[in-house]
This record gives sequence, C-alpha cells and structure tokens, in this order.
Amino acid sequence: MNHFVYREKELYCEDIPVRRIAEKVGTPLYIYSHATLKRHFKAFSDAFKGVDSLICFSAKANTSLAVLRLFSNFGGGLDIVSGGELYRGLKAGFSPEKIVYSGVGKRIDEIDYALETDILMFNIESLEELDLINKRAGIIKKKARISIRVNPDVDPRTHPYISTGMKKNKFGINNEFAVKGYKTAMGLENVKIVGIDCHIGSQITEIKPFVEALHSLKLLIKNLEDYGININYLDMGGGLGITYNDEAPPQPAEYAGAIKKYLGRTKLKLILEPGRVIVGNAGVLVTKVLYRKSTDVKEFIIVDAGMNDLVRPTLYKAFHAIKPVVVSGEGEIVADIVGPICESGDFLALDRYVQRVHQGDLLAVMSAGAYGFVMSSNYCSRLRIPEVMVRDDKFYVVRKRQKYEDLTRDENIPSFL
Ligand code: LLP
Repeated sequence: MNHFVYREKELYCEDIPVRRIAEKVGTPLYIYSHATLKRHFKAFSDAFKGVDSLICFSAKANTSLAVLRLFSNFGGGLDIVSGGELYRGLKAGFSPEKIVYSGVGKRIDEIDYALETDILMFNIESLEELDLINKRAGIIKKKARISIRVNPDVDPRTHPYISTGMKKNKFGINNEFAVKGYKTAMGLENVKIVGIDCHIGSQITEIKPFVEALHSLKLLIKNLEDYGININYLDMGGGLGITYNDEAPPQPAEYAGAIKKYLGRTKLKLILEPGRVIVGNAGVLVTKVLYRKSTDVKEFIIVDAGMNDLVRPTLYKAFHAIKPVVVSGEGEIVADIVGPICESGDFLALDRYVQRVHQGDLLAVMSAGAYGFVMSSNYCSRLRIPEVMVRDDKFYVVRKRQKYEDLTRDENIPSFL
C-alpha cells in the first residue's frame, strides 16, 4: 500500500495532508512515512525468512535517529562506514554485535572506536587496513572479527558513480588478493576471520549481477575451505534498486528468492545491507514555489529547495518525480524546476511536465527518503531543513530546522583579526 496518495486532490502522507505539515513546519522539509518504513523493512526481512540472516540497514541511506531507532526496534543490524555512523547507531539503540563496518578509508580513531565497542565485524578493503586493524586490536587488547570485502568484478549496470564491484572501482580486494589476505589474516594474532563480504553497487535493477557476485563468492569460499579457512558470515551488501520513474527492479521477495536458491543449503549466516530499497520511497521532499519565470526557450519554476537539500538530480542526473501537493486541474507545462543556488546545476528536474503552478504552491519531490537529507549541505549558508516522521494522523519533527546561529556555532575568528 502506498502511503503517499491523493485524497480529494490533496497529497496525503498516511492520514495527514502534506499541505498541513508544510504549513506547520515550513518548507523545504523532508517527510517520512512510518508505515512505509515499517512495511519495507518487514518485506525485506520476511523475504529472507527460512535462512539464518541479519538485515543490517545501510546507515548512509538515511541516518535519522528516529529512522534508525525504528529498524533497531525491529531487531535489525546496521551497516556503517564511519565513526559518526557508529555513534548514531549506538545512540539509536543497535547492539554492537549487529553492526558491520565497511569503507575503504577507516581511520585509526574510527577503528579504535569500533574495536572498543566490539562490533560484529570489519569488512576489510585492503591488506594495509588488515595490518592496521590487527595492530590496533593488539594495542586495545581486543580480537577484531573480520571479513574481506571481495571485489568480484561484476558489472551492476548502474550509474558509474554508484557502481562499486568492478575491477576499476576502489572498493574491496580482488579474488586473488582476497585469498592472500585471508591467508595473512590466519597468521595474525589479534584478528579472527568470521566472514566474507561484497557490495557491487547501488540502484541495481536486475537479479543477474547479484547472482554473479554470489557465484564468485561461493567459489572463493570453497577455495578458502581448501586452505582450512572457514567462514561463518556471508555478507551480500546492499544495492537493490527502487522505482523512481519507470524502472522495474525485482521485488525483495524475488531478490531474496534468487539468493536463497543460488546459495542452496548452507551453514552460513547471511548478512544483507539494504539502504535505498527500505527508505527511498518512504520519504518526500516538500518545497514551495517562490517565483516563475519564462524565457524564449524555457519556463522556470524557482522553488525553495536547492541542490544543497537534494543533490541527486544534479550529481547523478537522477530522476525524482515531482507532484503537486494540491491538484488544481490547471493543466501541465514543461519547465525546469530549479533552486535558489547560484549554479546552473542547481535543479530538481529539467524539461519536466508539471502542473501549472503559482507562487506559494507546494510541490513534493518523490522518492527522496534515501540519500536525500544525508547528502545535504550548508552550501550558500543555507540552513539544514527539518525531517518529519508521520505516523497515522500525527506527525513528529524528528530533526528541527537549523537556525542562523547553528551556521557559525563551531567557528572562531582568531584574535589577531
Ligand atoms: N553497503 C555498502 C558497503 C555500501 O557502500 C552501500 C551504498 C550500501 C550497502 C547500501 O546500498 P543501497 O542498498 O542503498 O543501494 N548516494 C548514491 C548511492 C551511494 C551508495 C553507496 N553505497 C545515490 O544517491 O544514489
């Protein structure tokens, strides 16, 4: 069931008109539907029923404490990529034994923090990182549980910026070096091999690349067994795509079915790191029309949300549907929907059919729950915008709008000035 639907020409989130929230909280703002978040998480985890599995939500997609708390309440784990995400995860209530840590550039302080917290495992992305983690674990007197993130050289056929499992990408370790890494890890005193990991990319809309990656990992696991190296966890990463426009990605059940089928009977515990598929279509960005402007060649709709609030359209040429919050029936125009920032790349949509709007009208930028707020910035000293969670007919401001003081809070002017 879709929880962003029109009732009597008004866009609702669950049982509240989006307009009412915007009037109370102001624009721009992000709105998340609790029911959708819950449904998506359940659909994904239910899809893996029957196999021993842990769903580690990928924090980077949406780090709102409220969103994280919801998933931790469901018994989920967390996939992190920084000390900051670990901090948030713990604050949200995730237990450390459900936290996995990926990322090519883990710093010493972050490694120490994760060791002290005793997280489930580090997904190692280079042999130098393996060496450092062993050393730090020795100093801290902890055993670091590790898996090696394998780069299986699979083409996920997605946007090049979010493809991660090909030879040319910086991520993971190729099969040959992975074996070397495991052999090295065997001899390291403060490291315990527990798993194997891969993450081949994001917004993947076919099953095939996942199966190819799994095939590659299975061969490697077999190979490792021959060396007496046994693995407990198989981490398949995230990457399942969603519908932004006309994509038809596999449903979680289909995705899980393919993985389960290909995996066969196994003692391995499966870890999944979904991000976008859980939160992407659970959120919208609501923005207000500031001005309209026509030129010989274009119609512009200038809105109060910019590329600093949602960078995906300009960064990846990503499509986000844009819907009127109140349907007027005035017909459509073709326009560029642009923000207030001084860059031509500051757009939410180009040459888009959209309802004819007027100053003050509200527009909803759909599918903005993943990589939306988390990628926002204070560029042009614009204030970070609020995040609201809707549950039934109530809404909760889960992050308030910044104030001007927040912009300069951490700054100092040296005394010589
Ligand atoms: N695990 C790892 C190790 C990852 O690097 C990622 C995403 C995920 C899991 C979750 O992937 P998902 O299920 O969300 O596809 N900012 C880009 C997406 C970057 C994805 C980075 N890694 C965007 O807005 O499309």
